[in-house]
Amino acid sequence: MEIVHISAECYPMAKAGGLGDVVGALPKYQNELGHVAKVVMPMYRTKFLYDNEWELVHEGGQALGNHWFKYSVIKEKTNKLGFDLYLIDINGVLDREKIYGYDDDTERFVSFQLAVCDWMSRWQHKPDIIHCHDHQAGFIPFFCKHVYAFRYQLADIPTVFTIHNGQYQGQFSWDKYYLIPAYDTWNWGYLDWNNDINPMASAIKCAWKVTTVSPNYMEELRHSAAGLEALFEYEKGKCSGIINGIDTEVWDPATDPYLIKNYDSKSVAEGKAVHKTELVKQFGLDPNKPLISFIGRLVDEKAADLLPEAISQSVYQYGGKTSFLILGSGNPYVESALADMNKSLRGYVNSYIGYSESLSHVIYAGSDFLLMPSRVEPCGLNQMYALRYGTIPIVRNVGGLKDTVIDYGEPDGFGLTMEQSSVGDIAYAVGRAIELFEKKPNQFATIREQIMAIDHSWTTSAAKYIELYQSLS
Ligand code: ADP
Ligand code: GLC
Repeated sequence: MEIVHISAECYPMAKAGGLGDVVGALPKYQNELGHVAKVVMPMYRTKFLYDNEWELVHEGGQALGNHWFKYSVIKEKTNKLGFDLYLIDINGVLDREKIYGYDDDTERFVSFQLAVCDWMSRWQHKPDIIHCHDHQAGFIPFFCKHVYAFRYQLADIPTVFTIHNGQYQGQFSWDKYYLIPAYDTWNWGYLDWNNDINPMASAIKCAWKVTTVSPNYMEELRHSAAGLEALFEYEKGKCSGIINGIDTEVWDPATDPYLIKNYDSKSVAEGKAVHKTELVKQFGLDPNKPLISFIGRLVDEKAADLLPEAISQSVYQYGGKTSFLILGSGNPYVESALADMNKSLRGYVNSYIGYSESLSHVIYAGSDFLLMPSRVEPCGLNQMYALRYGTIPIVRNVGGLKDTVIDYGEPDGFGLTMEQSSVGDIAYAVGRAIELFEKKPNQFATIREQIMAIDHSWTTSAAKYIELYQSLS
């Protein structure tokens, strides 16, 4: 089959979180299964753009309200990612350094989607599936079906919409109705949710199939979906959950170029020790204590706001028997509370505020435990990376974390789980981690070896998407 993925992120061109990882991996695995999967995304000014060669494949123009803009489409020349990567270049609109966070993000991503639809509507040979990811590609199912300029060419192509994060819906006021190109206006309801134009809601209504990135998250959305609960209940017949995989070529401690010393399950103890030594040296922590790390966006969804208090409570409650290391950025209050702790709890806690792909790999390798107390976690990739690097996950039983981590107190278990995102639950789980590390060293060592062998590769899930597409053709 021929599949076009449309997304705001794709690793290594641009990544803000797990969406980038998924869109950078899934097409590659679909191609390995004998299909033709491509990715179309915005052209931001990233390092990958400048480090690679591109060829121009199309130029066109579109109207955003009464403003006419030109766009061009470029393609990476060598297919080095394992799939064709196309970038949409809109001068002054998309070609910026960051992916998100601009005042005109609404206009930026509507323009992106208009350009994508305009370009696709001119293809002689149409794809079998248009697969849209998150709200930045959420208008595409509506555009294909209802917009005059596109529907004659695109309405028959099945669309699949994958929700990586239902918290971010991209909604905006009907005052900006003019951003939407001409359509049969009696279909306005396909754009609307709660008196706003809502691209995520629109995609759930208009896509032929809707998926989320874990089965458990799909269930949760019917009760807790930032206002969209009733819509998920209504559309449940076309919704399903497919768990993400991980790119086992990028995330393999035996070959990872970011690591100081590569290792596998046989050399896990030595391999992890080298990275732990490096981390504790760099961050002024104690090499003999269990190292518990957190990697991620410092936002409420990840319960990052609880980290400062949970960490200081754990340090005091257990007499400073652990070291904590945090890599992330986000909420300024959390960032400054963590920066204060680097001083007040020096030697026990340290953090790196910012984004660092290379440091993240070393932390997965050098930590004993990875903490994810998330309030919401549609899938979560960090826990799967941790497992592959022999790091025991400490997670809240929510979303995809519930689908991928079993408490070591249960049969076949290997992680530590908590029921609530609360300071008390985190501190209690930290206590259990200390106990496992200090008092049960043999079990700790066995778990490490076992978790490295758990298979979370994309092969199974990539095939599940293909089955879903085939049900539509
Ligand atoms: P989300 O997409 O909600 O942020 P995921 O667990 O799916 O969460 O994926 C997060 C991805 O982003 C992982 O690859 C993780 O290693 C990476 N990541 C998050 N924050 C940082 C950071 N500050 N530096 C480097 N990598 C990060
Ligand atoms: C989102 C979710 C995360 C998921 C990722 C990739 O950003 O927050 O849980 O793993 O998308 O699907």
